[in-house]
Amino acid sequence: MFHNIFQQYYLSNKDIDVNTSVFMKGKIDIWAMDEDFEKILEKIKDLNLTYLDFKVIYLKNTLTHVHYQESLKKCQDVSWYIDGSVNMAHPQNIIALTKLEKMWIIGYYRHGIPSWMKHDSKPHTFSNSLDIRLARTLINIAGENDKTKTIIDPCCGMATVVLEGLALGYHIKGFDISREISWKARNNLIYFGYDGMLITKDDINLHQGHYDVAIIDIPYNLYTPITHQQQCAIIQSARRLCDKLVLVSYEKMDEEIQEAGFFIKDCVLRKKTEYVKFGRYIYVCY
Ligand SMILES: C[S@@+](CC[C@H](N)C(=O)[O-])C[C@H]1O[C@@H](n2cnc3c(N)ncnc32)[C@H](O)[C@@H]1O
Repeated sequence: MFHNIFQQYYLSNKDIDVNTSVFMKGKIDIWAMDEDFEKILEKIKDLNLTYLDFKVIYLKNTLTHVHYQESLKKCQDVSWYIDGSVNMAHPQNIIALTKLEKMWIIGYYRHGIPSWMKHDSKPHTFSNSLDIRLARTLINIAGENDKTKTIIDPCCGMATVVLEGLALGYHIKGFDISREISWKARNNLIYFGYDGMLITKDDINLHQGHYDVAIIDIPYNLYTPITHQQQCAIIQSARRLCDKLVLVSYEKMDEEIQEAGFFIKDCVLRKKTEYVKFGRYIYVCY
Protein backbone atom coordinates (compact mmCIF):
# COMPACT_ATOMS: atom_id res chain seq x y z
CA MET A 1 0.00 0.00 0.00
CA PHE A 2 1.28 3.49 -0.86
CA HIS A 3 0.35 6.78 0.76
CA ASN A 4 1.22 9.91 -1.12
CA ILE A 5 1.42 11.97 2.06
CA PHE A 6 4.18 14.35 1.13
CA GLN A 7 3.82 15.21 -2.57
CA GLN A 8 6.58 13.23 -4.32
CA TYR A 9 7.45 11.36 -1.11
CA TYR A 10 5.59 8.10 -0.64
CA LEU A 11 5.00 6.05 2.43
CA SER A 12 4.54 2.33 1.85
CA ASN A 13 4.38 -0.90 3.80
CA LYS A 14 5.78 -2.72 0.75
CA ASP A 15 9.50 -3.32 0.59
CA ILE A 16 10.43 -2.42 -2.97
CA ASP A 17 13.96 -2.57 -4.32
CA VAL A 18 15.12 0.99 -4.83
CA ASN A 19 16.33 0.16 -8.35
CA THR A 20 12.97 -1.16 -9.55
CA SER A 21 11.56 2.06 -10.85
CA VAL A 22 13.17 4.84 -12.84
CA PHE A 23 11.18 7.29 -10.72
CA MET A 24 12.60 6.13 -7.39
CA LYS A 25 15.64 8.17 -6.36
CA GLY A 26 16.13 6.76 -2.89
CA LYS A 27 14.41 4.99 -0.06
CA ILE A 28 14.48 5.05 3.73
CA ASP A 29 13.69 1.82 5.57
CA ILE A 30 11.92 3.68 8.34
CA TRP A 31 12.79 2.95 11.97
CA ALA A 32 10.86 5.81 13.51
CA MET A 33 8.57 8.71 12.60
CA ASP A 34 7.53 11.31 15.10
CA GLU A 35 6.90 15.03 15.40
CA ASP A 36 8.88 14.97 18.64
CA PHE A 37 12.60 14.55 17.91
CA GLU A 38 13.26 13.31 21.47
CA LYS A 39 10.99 10.32 20.76
CA ILE A 40 13.06 9.56 17.67
CA LEU A 41 16.17 9.45 19.86
CA GLU A 42 14.45 7.18 22.37
CA LYS A 43 13.46 4.79 19.62
CA ILE A 44 17.00 4.67 18.20
CA LYS A 45 18.33 3.98 21.69
CA ASP A 46 15.84 1.12 22.16
CA LEU A 47 16.84 -0.45 18.84
CA ASN A 48 20.44 -1.06 20.07
CA LEU A 49 21.84 -0.57 16.57
CA THR A 50 25.42 -1.44 15.59
CA TYR A 51 26.96 -0.52 12.25
CA LEU A 52 30.50 -0.56 10.98
CA ASP A 53 31.54 2.44 8.89
CA PHE A 54 28.29 4.30 9.23
CA LYS A 55 27.32 7.90 8.71
CA VAL A 56 24.17 9.75 9.66
CA ILE A 57 23.10 12.21 7.00
CA TYR A 58 20.35 14.77 6.86
CA LEU A 59 18.39 14.11 3.66
CA LYS A 60 17.31 17.42 2.20
CA ASN A 61 13.88 17.51 0.65
CA THR A 62 11.86 20.00 -1.34
CA LEU A 63 9.09 20.32 1.24
CA THR A 64 10.71 21.36 4.49
CA HIS A 65 13.86 23.31 5.10
CA VAL A 66 15.86 22.58 8.21
CA HIS A 67 18.71 24.95 8.92
CA TYR A 68 22.14 23.43 8.27
CA GLN A 69 23.37 23.87 11.87
CA GLU A 70 20.23 22.23 13.25
CA SER A 71 20.40 19.29 10.84
CA LEU A 72 24.08 18.75 11.71
CA LYS A 73 23.33 18.78 15.43
CA LYS A 74 20.42 16.36 15.07
CA CYS A 75 22.56 13.93 13.02
CA GLN A 76 25.22 14.01 15.73
CA ASP A 77 22.56 13.35 18.37
CA VAL A 78 21.42 10.27 16.47
CA SER A 79 25.01 9.05 16.00
CA TRP A 80 25.50 8.93 19.78
CA TYR A 81 22.94 6.14 20.06
CA ILE A 82 24.42 3.93 17.37
CA ASP A 83 27.28 1.56 18.17
CA GLY A 84 30.06 0.68 15.75
CA SER A 85 32.35 3.03 13.84
CA VAL A 86 31.65 6.29 12.07
CA ASN A 87 33.14 6.74 8.61
CA MET A 88 32.35 10.15 7.19
CA ALA A 89 34.39 9.82 3.98
CA HIS A 90 33.50 6.32 2.77
CA PRO A 91 30.51 5.05 4.74
CA GLN A 92 29.30 1.50 4.10
CA ASN A 93 26.03 2.17 5.87
CA ILE A 94 24.02 5.37 5.60
CA ILE A 95 21.41 6.35 8.13
CA ALA A 96 19.15 9.14 6.98
CA LEU A 97 17.26 11.68 8.99
CA THR A 98 14.78 13.99 7.35
CA LYS A 99 11.88 16.23 8.26
CA LEU A 100 8.76 16.35 6.13
CA GLU A 101 6.48 19.12 7.31
CA LYS A 102 6.32 18.50 11.08
CA MET A 103 7.39 14.86 10.95
CA TRP A 104 10.91 13.66 11.71
CA ILE A 105 11.75 10.44 9.89
CA ILE A 106 14.77 8.23 10.47
CA GLY A 107 15.92 4.95 8.96
CA TYR A 108 18.41 3.05 6.86
CA TYR A 109 19.01 4.82 3.56
CA ARG A 110 19.35 3.22 0.13
CA HIS A 111 20.18 5.36 -2.85
CA GLY A 112 18.84 4.38 -6.26
CA ILE A 113 21.61 3.31 -8.62
CA PRO A 114 20.24 3.60 -12.13
CA SER A 115 21.10 -0.03 -12.98
CA TRP A 116 18.53 0.13 -15.79
CA MET A 117 20.83 2.51 -17.66
CA LYS A 118 23.31 -0.24 -18.51
CA HIS A 119 21.01 -1.63 -21.20
CA ASP A 120 21.32 1.64 -23.07
CA SER A 121 24.56 0.32 -24.55
CA LYS A 122 23.08 -2.74 -26.24
CA PRO A 123 24.81 -3.70 -29.50
CA HIS A 124 21.72 -3.59 -31.69
CA THR A 125 19.08 -0.91 -31.72
CA PHE A 126 16.84 0.78 -34.28
CA SER A 127 14.75 3.91 -34.58
CA ASN A 128 11.65 1.95 -33.46
CA SER A 129 13.20 1.07 -30.11
CA LEU A 130 11.58 2.32 -26.94
CA ASP A 131 13.74 4.25 -24.54
CA ILE A 132 14.79 2.14 -21.55
CA ARG A 133 13.08 4.38 -19.00
CA LEU A 134 9.75 3.72 -20.69
CA ALA A 135 10.58 0.03 -21.15
CA ARG A 136 11.25 -0.41 -17.44
CA THR A 137 8.12 1.49 -16.55
CA LEU A 138 6.07 -0.82 -18.81
CA ILE A 139 7.51 -3.82 -17.00
CA ASN A 140 6.52 -2.37 -13.65
CA ILE A 141 2.99 -1.67 -14.89
CA ALA A 142 2.75 -5.16 -16.36
CA GLY A 143 4.30 -7.18 -13.55
CA GLU A 144 3.15 -5.15 -10.53
CA ASN A 145 6.15 -6.56 -8.66
CA ASP A 146 4.71 -10.10 -8.82
CA LYS A 147 7.64 -12.16 -10.08
CA THR A 148 5.51 -15.26 -10.59
CA LYS A 149 3.78 -13.63 -13.56
CA THR A 150 4.58 -14.78 -17.07
CA ILE A 151 5.17 -11.92 -19.48
CA ILE A 152 5.49 -11.92 -23.26
CA ASP A 153 6.58 -9.20 -25.68
CA PRO A 154 5.26 -10.57 -28.97
CA CYS A 155 6.52 -7.69 -31.14
CA CYS A 156 9.78 -7.39 -29.27
CA GLY A 157 11.93 -5.49 -31.78
CA MET A 158 15.41 -5.22 -30.25
CA ALA A 159 14.24 -6.74 -26.93
CA THR A 160 14.34 -3.45 -25.02
CA VAL A 161 11.37 -4.50 -22.87
CA VAL A 162 12.54 -8.11 -22.47
CA LEU A 163 15.92 -6.93 -21.16
CA GLU A 164 14.31 -4.73 -18.52
CA GLY A 165 12.01 -7.59 -17.49
CA LEU A 166 14.92 -9.99 -17.13
CA ALA A 167 16.91 -7.44 -15.13
CA LEU A 168 14.03 -7.25 -12.65
CA GLY A 169 13.76 -11.03 -12.39
CA TYR A 170 10.54 -11.67 -14.32
CA HIS A 171 9.66 -14.74 -16.39
CA ILE A 172 9.66 -12.93 -19.70
CA LYS A 173 10.31 -13.84 -23.31
CA GLY A 174 9.76 -12.26 -26.66
CA PHE A 175 9.46 -12.85 -30.35
CA ASP A 176 9.36 -10.84 -33.55
CA ILE A 177 8.11 -11.64 -37.03
CA SER A 178 11.32 -10.41 -38.64
CA ARG A 179 14.18 -12.90 -38.89
CA GLU A 180 16.81 -10.17 -38.85
CA ILE A 181 15.28 -8.28 -35.93
CA SER A 182 14.75 -11.37 -33.79
CA TRP A 183 18.37 -12.43 -34.48
CA LYS A 184 19.61 -9.03 -33.32
CA ALA A 185 17.34 -9.10 -30.26
CA ARG A 186 18.71 -12.53 -29.35
CA ASN A 187 22.26 -11.17 -29.59
CA ASN A 188 21.32 -8.27 -27.34
CA LEU A 189 20.25 -10.77 -24.68
CA ILE A 190 23.42 -12.82 -25.07
CA TYR A 191 25.53 -9.64 -24.83
CA PHE A 192 24.14 -8.98 -21.34
CA GLY A 193 24.56 -12.62 -20.26
CA TYR A 194 20.96 -13.79 -20.68
CA ASP A 195 19.66 -16.86 -22.49
CA GLY A 196 19.36 -15.86 -26.16
CA MET A 197 16.75 -18.56 -26.76
CA LEU A 198 14.23 -16.45 -24.87
CA ILE A 199 13.82 -14.63 -28.18
CA THR A 200 12.42 -16.44 -31.19
CA LYS A 201 11.17 -15.56 -34.64
CA ASP A 202 7.41 -15.83 -34.66
CA ASP A 203 4.20 -14.16 -35.77
CA ILE A 204 1.79 -13.09 -33.04
CA ASN A 205 -1.11 -14.20 -35.22
CA LEU A 206 0.22 -17.77 -35.33
CA HIS A 207 1.83 -18.04 -31.90
CA GLN A 208 0.40 -20.64 -29.51
CA GLY A 209 0.55 -20.11 -25.79
CA HIS A 210 -0.98 -18.20 -22.92
CA TYR A 211 0.64 -15.65 -20.61
CA ASP A 212 -0.40 -13.52 -17.66
CA VAL A 213 0.61 -10.32 -19.40
CA ALA A 214 1.59 -9.18 -22.89
CA ILE A 215 3.43 -5.93 -23.51
CA ILE A 216 2.99 -4.74 -27.06
CA ASP A 217 4.67 -1.75 -28.62
CA ILE A 218 2.42 -1.82 -31.64
CA PRO A 219 4.13 -1.57 -35.03
CA TYR A 220 3.15 1.68 -36.71
CA ASN A 221 3.44 2.92 -40.21
CA LEU A 222 6.17 5.38 -39.37
CA TYR A 223 9.10 3.01 -39.79
CA THR A 224 7.64 -0.37 -40.75
CA PRO A 225 4.94 -0.70 -43.38
CA ILE A 226 1.83 -1.90 -41.57
CA THR A 227 -1.86 -1.45 -42.29
CA HIS A 228 -4.54 -0.55 -39.79
CA GLN A 229 -6.05 -3.98 -40.41
CA GLN A 230 -2.76 -5.66 -39.44
CA GLN A 231 -2.58 -3.57 -36.26
CA CYS A 232 -6.12 -4.71 -35.37
CA ALA A 233 -5.14 -8.34 -36.03
CA ILE A 234 -2.23 -7.96 -33.56
CA ILE A 235 -4.54 -6.64 -30.84
CA GLN A 236 -7.03 -9.43 -31.53
CA SER A 237 -4.29 -12.03 -31.29
CA ALA A 238 -3.19 -10.47 -28.01
CA ARG A 239 -6.65 -11.20 -26.61
CA ARG A 240 -6.04 -14.88 -27.23
CA LEU A 241 -2.52 -14.76 -25.75
CA CYS A 242 -2.92 -12.94 -22.45
CA ASP A 243 -5.12 -11.97 -19.50
CA LYS A 244 -3.69 -8.47 -19.27
CA LEU A 245 -2.35 -6.28 -22.03
CA VAL A 246 -0.07 -3.25 -21.76
CA LEU A 247 -0.20 -1.59 -25.16
CA VAL A 248 1.92 1.26 -26.46
CA SER A 249 0.73 3.16 -29.52
CA TYR A 250 1.35 6.41 -31.34
CA GLU A 251 -2.34 7.17 -31.66
CA LYS A 252 -5.52 6.54 -29.74
CA MET A 253 -6.71 2.96 -30.25
CA ASP A 254 -9.65 2.73 -27.82
CA GLU A 255 -12.07 1.35 -30.40
CA GLU A 256 -9.67 -1.22 -31.78
CA ILE A 257 -8.82 -2.43 -28.26
CA GLN A 258 -12.44 -2.69 -27.15
CA GLU A 259 -13.47 -4.40 -30.40
CA ALA A 260 -10.85 -7.07 -29.69
CA GLY A 261 -12.66 -7.78 -26.40
CA PHE A 262 -10.47 -5.89 -23.93
CA PHE A 263 -11.64 -3.65 -21.14
CA ILE A 264 -9.49 -0.51 -20.89
CA LYS A 265 -8.59 0.07 -17.27
CA ASP A 266 -6.26 3.00 -17.82
CA CYS A 267 -4.74 5.12 -20.55
CA VAL A 268 -2.11 7.86 -20.34
CA LEU A 269 -0.36 9.93 -22.94
CA ARG A 270 3.34 9.91 -22.21
CA LYS A 271 5.40 12.73 -23.70
CA LYS A 272 9.13 12.99 -23.14
CA THR A 273 8.74 16.72 -22.52
CA GLU A 274 5.75 19.02 -22.64
CA TYR A 275 7.21 20.68 -25.75
CA VAL A 276 7.16 17.64 -28.03
CA LYS A 277 4.20 17.31 -30.32
CA PHE A 278 3.84 13.55 -30.25
CA GLY A 279 3.82 11.17 -27.37
CA ARG A 280 2.89 7.57 -26.84
CA TYR A 281 -0.35 6.26 -25.45
CA ILE A 282 0.03 3.58 -22.81
CA TYR A 283 -3.04 1.41 -22.31
CA VAL A 284 -3.61 -1.04 -19.48
CA CYS A 285 -6.30 -3.52 -20.52
CA TYR A 286 -7.94 -6.68 -19.23
C1 LIG B 1 7.52 -0.80 -32.74
S1 LIG B 1 8.49 -2.18 -33.05
C2 LIG B 1 8.92 -2.76 -31.45
C3 LIG B 1 10.12 -2.07 -30.91
C4 LIG B 1 10.55 -2.62 -29.59
N1 LIG B 1 9.62 -2.31 -28.53
C5 LIG B 1 11.94 -2.11 -29.22
O1 LIG B 1 12.08 -1.36 -28.25
O2 LIG B 1 12.91 -2.42 -29.91
C6 LIG B 1 7.32 -3.34 -33.58
C7 LIG B 1 7.90 -4.68 -33.98
O3 LIG B 1 6.80 -5.55 -34.29
C8 LIG B 1 7.25 -6.48 -35.24
N2 LIG B 1 6.04 -7.10 -35.85
C9 LIG B 1 5.23 -6.60 -36.81
N3 LIG B 1 4.24 -7.46 -37.07
C10 LIG B 1 4.40 -8.54 -36.26
C11 LIG B 1 3.69 -9.76 -36.05
N4 LIG B 1 2.61 -10.05 -36.76
N5 LIG B 1 4.15 -10.63 -35.13
C12 LIG B 1 5.27 -10.34 -34.40
N6 LIG B 1 5.99 -9.20 -34.55
C13 LIG B 1 5.56 -8.30 -35.47
C14 LIG B 1 8.10 -5.66 -36.17
O4 LIG B 1 9.03 -6.47 -36.86
C15 LIG B 1 8.77 -4.66 -35.20
O5 LIG B 1 10.06 -5.10 -34.86
